[in-house]
Amino acid sequence: MKQKYTITAALPYTNGPVHIGHLAGVYIPADIFSRYQRLKENDVLFVCGSDEHGVAITMKARKEGITPQEVVDKYNKIIKDSFEDFGISFDIYSRTSKKIHHDTAQEFFVNLHEKGEFIEKTSQQYYDVGENQFLADRYIMGTCPHCKNEEAYGDQCEKCGTSLSPEELINPKSTISGNKPEKKETKHWYLPLDKYEPWLKEWIVDGHKDDWKTNVYGQCKSWIDQGLVPRAVTRDLNWGIKVPVEGGDGKVLYVWFDAPIGYISASKDWAEQTGGDWESHWKDENTKLIHFIGKDNIVFHCIIFPAMLKAHGDYILPDNVPGMEFLNLEGKKISTSRDWAVWLHEYLQDFPGKQDSLRYMLTAIAPETKDNDFTWADFQGKNNSELVGVYGNFVNRVLVLINKYWGGVVPEMGELSAIDESVIKGMNEYRAKIESSMERYRLREAQQEMMNLARLGNKYLTEEEPWKWYKTDEARAKTILYISLQICAKLAVLSEPFIPNTSAKLTEMLNLGKIAWNSVDATNLLPLGHQINKAELLFERIDDDIIEAQKKKLEEKAAQKALEMAKAEPQKEETTFDAFTKMDLRVGEILEADKMKKTKKLLQLKVDTGIDQRTIISGIAEHYSPEELIGKKVMVLVNLAPRKMRGVDSEGMILLSENAEGKLFFVEPSAGANPGDVIA
Ligand code: 2FM
Ligand code: ZN
Repeated sequence: MKQKYTITAALPYTNGPVHIGHLAGVYIPADIFSRYQRLKENDVLFVCGSDEHGVAITMKARKEGITPQEVVDKYNKIIKDSFEDFGISFDIYSRTSKKIHHDTAQEFFVNLHEKGEFIEKTSQQYYDVGENQFLADRYIMGTCPHCKNEEAYGDQCEKCGTSLSPEELINPKSTISGNKPEKKETKHWYLPLDKYEPWLKEWIVDGHKDDWKTNVYGQCKSWIDQGLVPRAVTRDLNWGIKVPVEGGDGKVLYVWFDAPIGYISASKDWAEQTGGDWESHWKDENTKLIHFIGKDNIVFHCIIFPAMLKAHGDYILPDNVPGMEFLNLEGKKISTSRDWAVWLHEYLQDFPGKQDSLRYMLTAIAPETKDNDFTWADFQGKNNSELVGVYGNFVNRVLVLINKYWGGVVPEMGELSAIDESVIKGMNEYRAKIESSMERYRLREAQQEMMNLARLGNKYLTEEEPWKWYKTDEARAKTILYISLQICAKLAVLSEPFIPNTSAKLTEMLNLGKIAWNSVDATNLLPLGHQINKAELLFERIDDDIIEAQKKKLEEKAAQKALEMAKAEPQKEETTFDAFTKMDLRVGEILEADKMKKTKKLLQLKVDTGIDQRTIISGIAEHYSPEELIGKKVMVLVNLAPRKMRGVDSEGMILLSENAEGKLFFVEPSAGANPGDVIA
């Protein structure tokens, strides 16, 4: 029986192009899994599309001085093209701006409204008086109450991942004007998540302990343990899907209400275009719904969307939500605003035709269980030593020799040695190994197994040396190359989910007909007498100068962006002379400096302030080593209320400047200044 799958990949916000982090965290894993399930001859519907609503879009429009519609049209095309270029095999790439989506999302909302599933609540919400706009989500920023990140948004702190509401922010300010917001009354519809708490507990905490990934399960459990509260599902904005009930004028659905419904609308869009049956993919209890997402989307896919689906009642719930951690780049967080990223469209300009090299690399380092790092050096290493050195080298040697010795005709397998027997046994185990990893969403491990099959072949060929036998014992050469060729055929099938272009090229070179995944364990995939085609190189080496150029490009673009940003940093709100003179700023001297345990950022300093010697904790550990600080004269705010950090009282603050790239520099007094000197 064919298993029905509905596989979704997070709908990307259409406010910028996609980079390697997106590909590694969502789209390649989803594509590998979908391709694999199709090869298993299951019934797969793989959907995605552009997420075109929400503040992410309107803010981009404001920044670029164009309309939100122009923003989404521009980036929808760029993103869609990148996915096609990298072979992401969606059955449909839809858009949330399509009528079918607006209708579906509104129907969903009305359904819940009519069932009395929402709470309607009037409350005071932050409002930017000058801009005449309510401030929700990313329109408001402030300090995160959990980790003290000063740049937390009204919906989420990106540093600690906590989901927030604007009311929780300390010192909130409007991100449009920088102004302090006022409060104004407004009415919204809330989904009472608290009502679903017992059910979520049973469904996730008890029901998915063993089959969901631990990072996903852990986040859900911690959310549920903290207690769920009603979440507003509407916003005061003019960009989005109109609230289709009385009192909804001037309001739209919250983007996180409409976006996941986008998976359903995309499926309907697919059905309209192909005549397919979308309902069986969403309403049949036997269908497996799988959401591929990044870790910042876990709560929306595991808690909020399932609660919505449960409230609606017509739809199935996700069977699994393989959420990925984040990919860093050369040791730093990928950042669009700092232009610290490898953009897919740029990669393709620089490495035309080398999509599979990047796909392979991104799967090899996929952040499945923890954040992981992409480095250009590692990319070069994986390409040169694994794709070129193992897979490509093996296949090429086998095909060249068979063409050279026997005109490309598959030779006869003769008597088998013990080594041959063991290689045949080994090579026929890889399909099962790959499947076992795939079924547990360990796609990185699955790819490793595929490469292990190439390694097995490469080692066998190198050690058995058929070129040495050819003249003295041709039958032996034939046997070795026959077995090697069967490994090539297996690779052509088993590598398809990971490196589809290579698999297609190899299939063509082998002149291989359609081989079902499930029949790949055979030893006669390419039988005696079969004619193969000429060998062509599957991969090319990437030289040092190319890698150096990429590293340089990355640094230069980030520096350029930093310059642009440095110009743009807006002045803070006005302060008073009184407020300034209340600050007691003095020259201090650092006497001791030590790294604090269990944190990468903090140093514990002993500072001579002229008044006393005191402890100050400073977040400079990533910029300065303790040794270089001893004896340094610095500026200190000495009358700052003590703050406990990591269990230690910090009594004051060292003044530092921060450049646009986030690098910190001491504000240093000139020579001759002494500890205790007052700054006025
Ligand atoms: O984080 C994001 O980029 C969101 N646009 C993901 C949405 S996923 C789904 F719900 F549509
Ligand atoms: Zn935080």
